[in-house]
Amino acid sequence: MSTLSTRFLGHSFASPLMNASGVYCLDVTELKALESSASGSLITKSCTLEARSGNPEPRYIATPLGSINSMGLPNRGYQYYLDYAKSFDYQRKPLFMSVAGLSLADNLKMIAAIRDAALPAIVELNLSCPNVPGKPQIAYDFSAMDQMLAAVTREYTQPFGVKMPPYFDFAHFDEAAAILNRYPTVAFVTCINSIGNALVIDTETESVVIKPKDGFGGIGGDYVLPTALANVNAFYRRCPDKLVIGCGGVKTGEQVFQHLLAGASLVQVGTALQEEGEGIFARLNTELSIIMARKGYSSVESVRGKLKTL
Ligand code: DHB
Repeated sequence: MSTLSTRFLGHSFASPLMNASGVYCLDVTELKALESSASGSLITKSCTLEARSGNPEPRYIATPLGSINSMGLPNRGYQYYLDYAKSFDYQRKPLFMSVAGLSLADNLKMIAAIRDAALPAIVELNLSCPNVPGKPQIAYDFSAMDQMLAAVTREYTQPFGVKMPPYFDFAHFDEAAAILNRYPTVAFVTCINSIGNALVIDTETESVVIKPKDGFGGIGGDYVLPTALANVNAFYRRCPDKLVIGCGGVKTGEQVFQHLLAGASLVQVGTALQEEGEGIFARLNTELSIIMARKGYSSVESVRGKLKTL
């Protein structure tokens, strides 16, 4: 029988599956549900220096093919998640912390506090937050991204990861990967955040479906799976010294398997977790095990990057 247990940056995981930041991770109640679930690990909501209530509701809507959101970074402030991380039982499963400062200075302050706490928590620096009105996302501004990574890697010398948006052009894959490759302590790349600034329209009401930004928001779910797989594989190929975490369009074990083939070491679940609840992890673990066994794979590592080309 194949095992789902795997290792990542020196930590042991019973399963490669975890939540995508933003889903089921706003407060300790939600985080505890993930702790008790069959997920292999969990990540906290992207945090800012101060707590934020986020954008007006409705700000997340599921559709038959996925979801659209413009949450506006609601979170309890980084100290809340740091306190949670200090009380976390790391014997149970590994913990990631997502950091999404509104400025470089804010990121440096939060990263320094996390560093000084000297915890086993793994940082995922969010370079792709699309839903704060008036703020372009860092990862679509390559010079800002380079400056951010230069400053953060000076302040924080432990291995950490970056959450990336989707790119849609080989020139952009090349340039983004070249920047990331300048920073050896950027140990992993999470691909992808939502496809930003889409618009869902309800025909009957002739209206947008979420309130912020005149209805514009990031989409996830079925809409994004091929884009997510492309970005996982693009960065897997271009960043041979880094690990990739896959995120986007996962609601079955087969889709987890596809992320692993494309090069993912771990796989995050967003929209489908939001819609199905934390019980999804037990189902995905079972489905993934069955596919791996049928195909003769005995470990997650043996699937990773095995994608064939024609
Ligand atoms: C939010 C959305 C994101 O895609 C992200 O990376 C961070 C925050 C939000 O709207 O809260």
